[in-house]
Amino acid sequence: MDIQITKNTSPKEKPEASVLGFGKYFTDHMFIMDYTPDKGWHDARIVPYGPLELSPACTALHYGSEIFEGLKAYRRPDGGIQLFRPLENARRMNRSAERLCLPEFPEEMFMEALRVLIDLDKDWVPSAPNTSLYIRPFMFGNDENLGVHSVKHATFVIILSPVGSYYKEGLNPVKIMIEDQDVRAVRGGTGEAKCGGNYAASNRAGERAEKKGYSQVLWLDGVERKYIEEVGAMNVLFLINGVVVTPQLRGSILPGITRKSIIELLKSEGYPVEERLISVDELAEAMANGTLEEAFGSGTAAVVSPIGALIYKDKEYVVNGGKIGKLTQHLYDTLTGIQWGKSEDKFGWTVKL
Ligand code: PLP
Ligand code: COI
Repeated sequence: MDIQITKNTSPKEKPEASVLGFGKYFTDHMFIMDYTPDKGWHDARIVPYGPLELSPACTALHYGSEIFEGLKAYRRPDGGIQLFRPLENARRMNRSAERLCLPEFPEEMFMEALRVLIDLDKDWVPSAPNTSLYIRPFMFGNDENLGVHSVKHATFVIILSPVGSYYKEGLNPVKIMIEDQDVRAVRGGTGEAKCGGNYAASNRAGERAEKKGYSQVLWLDGVERKYIEEVGAMNVLFLINGVVVTPQLRGSILPGITRKSIIELLKSEGYPVEERLISVDELAEAMANGTLEEAFGSGTAAVVSPIGALIYKDKEYVVNGGKIGKLTQHLYDTLTGIQWGKSEDKFGWTVKL
């Protein structure tokens, strides 16, 4: 792939690690590529980070044809940079593309675009503890046409953002509200695709949760409103009576790469893991009788996030005394050890740049 590079002649001042938060700062460059039916993917370019020019009739603005990914570049102790399972993101993006009738983006082009862009902005990969460079590839339908039909023209973009913790709580447990009114997704819908519309539909409940002092919403299934699905920006796992249980993937939740890695890690350590339906009643009972030992979320942005309290139908349950549990801490340490290159990666998950 031939990538035209236009360097930013006014690079920005890099923010201090202490102010990073999540997704507030962007690097000096971005990658862009266009798709048309006659040329396929073409015109790969890296340009200074800045506004995109769009037709006001652009499909994505009217009918929500947009998908995205999230992965991170980590600064290793030896100063090098590495990615965590990037091909999984490339593959998931193509599954999302298939669901939304957007064109597939070849995996090898995805990898090359990442390599070249990150190399150009490598000084933006932070090195302070728990910081990384968040990578946001996204694709949107870009037809100038108000008819509702599958997309013919698309644009693929990658932007980069140096980040710290996703939650202001850092590794302190977050409080989560189990939502029993709005639903996020149904099987056969777009729940397992990473598309912007899923998040737009989540905002109303998210706002209600925040007003009550909770960080995010834990969704129930959209049909029976009975089974646990996932949290707004992460998958969810529970330690119940010595067994790790997590909702099975049946089409309405995002197949998280962190979730998959945690399951593989636990299995390699001989830990019992069950992917199955978990009803909210089972969870409420486990919370009430004390067999729910730990609860945590998993995600690229959220890493491993302990859940310290869950509220359901206005009753609050405290999990593990509101403190991070032993297993959650172990998983956080093991996973972040591999991601930041501090411990051996016996799974071959990391890709050095
Ligand atoms: N579920 C949702 C809704 C998400 O937005 C994310 C974040 O990407 C996840 C789960 C976790 O997925 P991953 O571990 O691949 O980042
Ligand atoms: C990620 O963890 O990469 C996500 O996409 C979550 C996000 C919605 C902030």
